[in-house]
Amino acid sequence: MPNPVQDLHTVDESTFPYVFEQNATVQIRNGGGLVRCNVYRPKTADPVPVLVTYGPYGKDLHYKDFIPKFAEVNPAHKSDHSAWETPDPGFWTSHGYAVVRADERGLGQSPGLLDTMSRGTSDAFFDVIEWAAEQPWSSGKVGLLGISYYAGSQWRVAARKPKGLCAIIPWEGMSDYYRDRCRHGGILSNNFIRFWWNRQVITNQYGRPGRKASNWGPDTIEGDLSEEELRANRRDQTEDNQAYRYRDEPYYASREYDMSDIEVPLLSVGNWGGILLHLRGNVEGYIHASSKFKYLRMITGRHDLPFYYDEEVEVQRSFLDAFLKGDDRVGWSQPGKVSPVSLVLRKGNVGFDNAKAEAAYERREESEWPIARTQYTKLFLNSNDLSLSTSALDAQALKRKLSYRALGTMEKPELLQFSTPPFETETEITGHVVARLNVSVTADPGELTPSDIDLFVTLRYIGPDGKEVFYTGTAGDPVPLTKGWLRVSMRKVNTEHHKHRPWLPHRDYTSKDVLPVIPGEVYPVDIEIWPTNVVAEKGGRLVFEVSSGDTQGSGIFLHNDEKDRSPEVFKGVNNLHFGPKFDNYLTIPIIPPKTE
Ligand SMILES: *[C@@H]1O[C@H](CO)[C@@H](O)[C@H](O)[C@H]1NC(C)=O
Ligand SMILES: *[C@@H]1O[C@H](CO)[C@@H](O)[C@H](O)[C@H]1NC(C)=O
Repeated sequence: MPNPVQDLHTVDESTFPYVFEQNATVQIRNGGGLVRCNVYRPKTADPVPVLVTYGPYGKDLHYKDFIPKFAEVNPAHKSDHSAWETPDPGFWTSHGYAVVRADERGLGQSPGLLDTMSRGTSDAFFDVIEWAAEQPWSSGKVGLLGISYYAGSQWRVAARKPKGLCAIIPWEGMSDYYRDRCRHGGILSNNFIRFWWNRQVITNQYGRPGRKASNWGPDTIEGDLSEEELRANRRDQTEDNQAYRYRDEPYYASREYDMSDIEVPLLSVGNWGGILLHLRGNVEGYIHASSKFKYLRMITGRHDLPFYYDEEVEVQRSFLDAFLKGDDRVGWSQPGKVSPVSLVLRKGNVGFDNAKAEAAYERREESEWPIARTQYTKLFLNSNDLSLSTSALDAQALKRKLSYRALGTMEKPELLQFSTPPFETETEITGHVVARLNVSVTADPGELTPSDIDLFVTLRYIGPDGKEVFYTGTAGDPVPLTKGWLRVSMRKVNTEHHKHRPWLPHRDYTSKDVLPVIPGEVYPVDIEIWPTNVVAEKGGRLVFEVSSGDTQGSGIFLHNDEKDRSPEVFKGVNNLHFGPKFDNYLTIPIIPPKTE
């Protein structure tokens, strides 16, 4: 590899409404190397607080070139240097903040090993934060603000407490690499990772030829690298996640950290529609962070746009002003002043991917998550009429077994659906859902003996008019209420773990937790379903779906890797068992009205 050119740093004070510094260099302490960043700062001699992002999508790749959906971004957040999922320099410099945008190690203009979401790359992020705090133009106070990758990376680096870090706003950011992103209930979530990796990560690898020619940011300053060099300089997330399965393998273990080490003021913003990637992490990160000042804000809408809505930016800005400028207009820094939890409530059918219509949803403040007055309510599955009911069933009278084929796919789903009767009164469901099922597998005649079962479950809401209500998913696609997954060989729950809750079974997912799955044996399993919210109307119904593969609402987030879900292991018939000793039920969080 050519030696990195050390000083390419340029400062442009006249072209833009802000000072634009390009290719500033941050020396990395651990393992040497350097990270390059751009700095956008207000034209003032006074030191200013700094917002830092560090990630893969190219500090010099304009939002509009990254994705044409830039057209839909709030115009107040469009400038010559807007970039996907990051705070807009035009807007934030005009409000007294410097913006530092760093190319992650191995990407854009930063040389070194490309190893996304690893501890090593997070170490470099740590150095970038401390660097930003030490610059002459910096007030020494740093905040982190960004969506998705630029949010998921915040938890881990905050847990290491870099000097100067004063507040974080992970906006739709997973916090648990294994459980939120890579392996849902142990099942490889391959399709999104492959899309993401091929479209927007390796295309920006440091040294990748042809970036400029394909309008994907500038070419690498030191020149192109050969295909062999590029390969040697990266760890491929699609390959690693296929090759490793358990949290005790170094690949996953090295990506772990302790969420309770996070002490910095935190505003965790989660989206009810992010049911296949970020939602769980925003909720878990909020629950487990030790921060004295921590807030959970739930929103709806697409993954890319709400971050730039005027009202959401005002929330970001007032929070950052409170902790980075000492200007607390709202009371974020006064214990008990601002409700820690703010929930948007999904009621009615407003359509999906329609921000204007979603504005009709009301918002409610709560003082804790999960909501203390939650009434966890069992809905029993009835095999005779496929109903869900709150009253226990006469076990003797139940049909003993319901079956569906294993390895269902989006194209050919294999599923069972159970429905509640219409609600007699408006009923709010907000919080964590768990399903208890008795399951087994049967071999096909003359075929290989299966040795595992993948369970995919979905919760849907049917409006009083009998039509399913779809909500806005990550990409603006129609999604149901929520989903959950479990690979039955990974069913072991660690009830001793401090994160274990009756409403959220905790699994360690280590190689030592693997349990046998033998045809004909019945296994009781508790399936974690991601947190959700719906205000079910009088006459509305809930539908609980059990399937052997992805079903409607999975979008791009498919679990269909042939190696991970091979026919040799899974092919056959999957069964649910009913009768005495076979209890199947869903536990849902019903929220009674506040009594005041
Ligand atoms: C700084 O980096 C950009 C790409 O990130 C490049 O186009 C530009 O030429 C560099 N500046 C100098 C002075 O080399
Ligand atoms: C089925 O699940 C119930 C819990 O719901 C459990 O008590 C029972 O032992 C299971 N039955 C079998 C045969 O494993």
